[in-house]
Amino acid sequence: MSAEPFACYLVEKDEDGKIRGGVTHRPRAALPEGDVLIRVQWSSLNYKDALAATGHPGVAGKLPHVPGIDAAGTVVESSDPAFQPEQPVIVTGYDLGAGQWGGWAEYIRVPAEWVIPLPSGLTLETAMHYGTAGFTAAMSVQALEDHHIAANSGKVVVTGATGGVGSIAVMLLGKLGYHVVAVSGKEDKHEWLKTLGAAEVVGRDEVLDASSRPLLSTRWAGAVDCVGGDILTSLLRATQLRGCVTACGLVAGAELNMTVFPFILRGVTLTGIDSGWYPRELRLKLWERLGGEWRLDELADVTSTIPLSNANSAVQRILKGEIAGRTLVEIGQP
Ligand SMILES: NC(=O)c1ccc[n+]([C@@H]2O[C@H](COP(=O)([O-])OP(=O)(O)OC[C@H]3O[C@@H](n4cnc5c(N)ncnc54)[C@H](OP(=O)(O)O)[C@@H]3O)[C@@H](O)[C@H]2O)c1
Repeated sequence: MSAEPFACYLVEKDEDGKIRGGVTHRPRAALPEGDVLIRVQWSSLNYKDALAATGHPGVAGKLPHVPGIDAAGTVVESSDPAFQPEQPVIVTGYDLGAGQWGGWAEYIRVPAEWVIPLPSGLTLETAMHYGTAGFTAAMSVQALEDHHIAANSGKVVVTGATGGVGSIAVMLLGKLGYHVVAVSGKEDKHEWLKTLGAAEVVGRDEVLDASSRPLLSTRWAGAVDCVGGDILTSLLRATQLRGCVTACGLVAGAELNMTVFPFILRGVTLTGIDSGWYPRELRLKLWERLGGEWRLDELADVTSTIPLSNANSAVQRILKGEIAGRTLVEIGQP
């Protein structure tokens, strides 16, 4: 393989022990072992990428590290006959950008198992409008469906609604006819969330219940929770009989302080969402839905594009919870 260096965003420790990230070049031989070499055209920015870019040890397993849990590009070479040179493909989740160098780079090399042929109905660019955030939103909506929460079941609440996962969950649920209550800490984005598909928009305080009551008056048939902590326990305590709450995030806290009463007296289901290791067969089906009946053409309107060289400021903004919608990272065109 060519020893030609490739551009990537590298996170490393400097001589003073400080973690720094920026665009640099590395020889292709520095890429990990794997079946499929992919030339990356697009990646995206997720909360987890910001943790990796700042050297969070829970995400960036070891330094130096290349973040980017999403990548879309074309196959350069593959030892697995399932993939051919020039084939357009995407990779989201697994260990990409976490235990293994990720998509904020001109090239990735990954196991064939991780590689998804570009779903019909999507381009490399529009697939990255979704990226892991959109896929996680889709997994959450799929979980509600699997637990029989339908558009006529009652209100479905989405927390962290202006974030990557939250905004796509609002759009998808709105498109499917659900009565969506979006929860956001950004007062200036309430009207924007209505344009995405929210029937109601409320502040975080309006769902957070600081009392120690194990059960609250029921408000929700379902919930897509992106924040965790006391907001998640408040949702669970206010979910109606046989309702379902999905949990994917922890920006408001990783602890869950509550009783089992919502589960044993109301039959509430708490469903964990793990986009990283979602089984391949289900992954293929869900991407097919995202390119077909669930396709959100208006997603482009809520996505901004940055070059890799601007990643640092976007990382700081997402860590502060300041970004609304999705951020696409342009890596390079063929
Ligand atoms: N399990 C998985 O497979 C999976 C996959 C993707 C993401 N995640 C996790 O899901 C979460 C959301 O990811 P994302 O990429 O959508 O991140 P994001 O774009 O940063 O969105 C998070 C949103 O949460 C809200 N928020 C921020 N700080 C908060 C706080 N202290 N209390 C309450 N709400 C707060 C903000 O929305 P408002 O201002 O509108 O309230 C923010 O925009 C993250 O924790 C991420 O790690 C998990």
